[in-house]
Amino acid sequence: MTIDSGFNHITVLLDEAVEALDVRVDGCYLDGTFGRGGHSRLLLSKLGPDGRLLGFDKDPQAIATGQALAAEDGRFVIVQRSFAEMAAVIAEQGLAGKVQGVLMDLGVSSPQLDDPERGFSFMNDGPLDMRMDPTRGVSAAEFIAQAPEEEIARVFKEYGEERFARRMARAVVLRREAEPFLRTGDLAEVLKVANPAWEKGKNPATRAFQGLRIHVNNELGDLEAGLEAALDALEVGGRLVVISFHSLEDRIVKLFMRRLSKGEADNLPRNLPVRFEAFVPKIKVHGKPQFASEAELKANPRSRSAVMRVAEKLR
Ligand SMILES: C[S@@+](CC[C@H](N)C(=O)[O-])C[C@H]1O[C@@H](n2cnc3c(N)ncnc32)[C@H](O)[C@@H]1O
Repeated sequence: MTIDSGFNHITVLLDEAVEALDVRVDGCYLDGTFGRGGHSRLLLSKLGPDGRLLGFDKDPQAIATGQALAAEDGRFVIVQRSFAEMAAVIAEQGLAGKVQGVLMDLGVSSPQLDDPERGFSFMNDGPLDMRMDPTRGVSAAEFIAQAPEEEIARVFKEYGEERFARRMARAVVLRREAEPFLRTGDLAEVLKVANPAWEKGKNPATRAFQGLRIHVNNELGDLEAGLEAALDALEVGGRLVVISFHSLEDRIVKLFMRRLSKGEADNLPRNLPVRFEAFVPKIKVHGKPQFASEAELKANPRSRSAVMRVAEKLR
């Protein structure tokens, strides 16, 4: 696997995220989404010789970049695992409750989107794959070939927030009976024709592609598991910093932080007996959600949808 595929990733909210981690020179940190290591490198520059950083990514190219960094810097280790499996990795490394900060910069990286061979792009034709880790799970082509029509419609609607999900799923199923979908360009074309309401400046396949990507990579399920695992990994006073790129992700992060900052009993029916502990908040939310500055928006249009939320573990 080559490290440099020729596609770059510009890190979003770089200084803001690392500052929010409130780095301690000898602390132990987790980067749940290493990518090309933008956040990790800045974080390492703040750590002293006893500091440690453990990186996670599902993507083989991200892992290759991480391994090169690990070879240069003995304070850094990278694992090809989902951040949803953080609890197991932390236990293996004996780090449960000993971590001072966890960062999650969600979604896909620019190289994943820009390299047609990864099969995420409706703009540039490539194999219909969309897996961050192409060695595991079911590719987008396999899902589209096998899933019942209602399931395809649900994915377009729930994860893509596509209004014409049923119509588009119908078109996909009709076409697959004649010939399977193997290429992103082919699928994008069929979705385009089936979408009756094109939005200005937006490819008519955008939402359906987003839905497929989220489904194929179990992005929302991983996020829920990752947030819980991150909280367990942190020591009291440790920070959780999460950057989301669409409303479905941000909603999960927001509700998670709200629930734990109010005490879990807040969500239970009033007349249920609960232990005192359930009223005591587990985390404190730091400040308001943060967005990219004007300067960052100009330099990197992909930062437009980024929202960062920060919490501190209280107990
Ligand atoms: C937005 S990029 C992160 C960029 C990184 N912060 C940087 O500065 O280079 C997101 C990365 O997270 C990875 N990723 C997404 N979901 C993941 C998960 N559940 N577990 C591990 N890695 C994941 C993707 O493969 C991608 O490389």
